[in-house]
Amino acid sequence: MKLPHHLTIKNHHLHIGGQDCIKLAKDYGTPLYVTSEDRVCEQFLRYKEALSSRYPKVQVLYAAKANGNLALMRALAQLGAGADVFSAGELHLALEAGMPPEKLLFNGSSKSTDDLHLAVEKGVTVSVDSFNELQQLDEIAGNACKIAKIGFRVNPALEVPTHPKIATGLATSKFGIPHNEILTAYAEALTCTNVKPVGIHCHIGSQILDIEPFVRAAEVMAQNVQDITDILGVKLEFVDLGGGLGIPYHHDTDPAPTPEDYAKKVVPVFKAGMEACGITPELWVEPGRFLVADSTVLLTRVNSTKVTNKIFANIDAGFNLLIRPAMYDAYHEVIVADNADAATTTDYTVTGPICETGDILAQDRYLPDFVAGDVLAVLDAGAYGYAMSSQYNSRPRCPELLIKGSQVALMRRGETLEDITSTMLRPPWQR
Ligand code: LLP
Repeated sequence: MKLPHHLTIKNHHLHIGGQDCIKLAKDYGTPLYVTSEDRVCEQFLRYKEALSSRYPKVQVLYAAKANGNLALMRALAQLGAGADVFSAGELHLALEAGMPPEKLLFNGSSKSTDDLHLAVEKGVTVSVDSFNELQQLDEIAGNACKIAKIGFRVNPALEVPTHPKIATGLATSKFGIPHNEILTAYAEALTCTNVKPVGIHCHIGSQILDIEPFVRAAEVMAQNVQDITDILGVKLEFVDLGGGLGIPYHHDTDPAPTPEDYAKKVVPVFKAGMEACGITPELWVEPGRFLVADSTVLLTRVNSTKVTNKIFANIDAGFNLLIRPAMYDAYHEVIVADNADAATTTDYTVTGPICETGDILAQDRYLPDFVAGDVLAVLDAGAYGYAMSSQYNSRPRCPELLIKGSQVALMRRGETLEDITSTMLRPPWQR
C-alpha cells in the first residue's frame, strides 16, 4: 500500500513520524489517536506555497472543524494560518491558539444572537448566510457601537462529486444565499449603518477529488465580484473560495489531487476575474481535511475475533471515536501495526464495541492474519475523527498523542469514568 512519507514500516511494525506504533500503543494504551505535527505543518506550507507562488495576496484559513485540538491549531497559527470558525467554541480555540482576529472568518448558517455578539466583540469578520442574519448583525453591531465587517456566503448551485451529506453548494443546500440574489444582498448591506461588506465567501463541499468543480466555483465568484464592483462600486478586500480538496482514502486507487493541481487551475481563473474588475483582493481558502487527515492514525487493539458467517475482528475503537464509516460509508485503510508488510490473506469485518449493528470500521477487508491483543492502525483519521467523537455508550474518549521530530507528548488526556458523570447534576429532589 502506498504510504505518505511520515508513515513507514520498520521491522514489520508501522511507524508514524519515526515512532513505533506498537510501542506507543503499549506506553499510552489503546484506543489512541496519534498525530504527526510535522506532517500537518508540511501540508499547510504546501497549500500556502502553491497559491502564493501564483497570486500575491493569499490567506490560508484552517477549517477548525476538521480537528480542533489546540496544539495543532497553535502549530498552524505559528506558521501564519488563520481559521474558518463555525461556532463560538471554534472561535475560542482559534483565539487561544494565537490566531489574530483579522485572520478569522465566523461562518455558519444558523448563528445565534450570542454568536453574533461574540463575533462583533472580538472584531472577527462574519460570513453572513441570510438577509435575516444581516439585519440581526446590523442591530447587534449598532448596539455595540461597532462596525461589523462582513462577506456574504454565496450558494453557487453546483453539483459536486462527493457524498451528498457533505456537498454544501447545491441549489437545495441550507448554506448561503443563492448566487443570483447576491447583488441584492450587497445592495442591502450598503443600506445598513453598522456593517461593512468587505469580502465574499463560498464553500462547495468536502472530499472533492476533481479540480473542475473548484474552477466552476471560482467562475461564479468572479462573476459575482464583477457585478458587485461594476454595479455597486464596492471594491472587495477578500474573496474566500472555501475548502474541500479531498485526500486519497483508498491509497492505491483514488486520485490524489495536490494543492499545486488546485492552484494551477483555480488561480488563473480567479486572477483573470479580479483583473477584469480592476481589483486585487486577498485570496482566502479554507482547507481542513487536506491539512490534517493523513497526519493521524487511530491505534486500536483487537479485543477478540469471532468466526460466524463472517470473520469478525472486535476492536476497542468504534464509531464513538471515528464516525465517518458509519455516517458516510467512508473508507479508511487499516494496517495490522505489528505485521504491517505481511500478505493480506483473510477477509475481516472490523467492528467496534458500540451496541449498534452499524458500528463497522472496515467491511470485508483483506488483512494479514491477526489475533486478539494485536494492534490495528486506522489511517487518515486526523480530519473529522476525534472532532466528531462522542461518549456514546458512556465510553470515555481516548487520548490524543502528538509527535514532533523525535518528541512525543499527549495533546489531550484520555477521559476517565469520572469525566462521564462530571457534568451531570443531581436534581434537588434526589438528595
Ligand atoms: N469551509 C467551510 C465553510 C466548511 O463548511 C468546511 C467543511 C470547510 C471549509 C473545510 O472543508 P474540507 O477542506 O475539510 O473539506 N464531517 C465530514 C466533512 C464535513 C465538512 C464540513 N464543512 C467528513 O467527515 O467527511
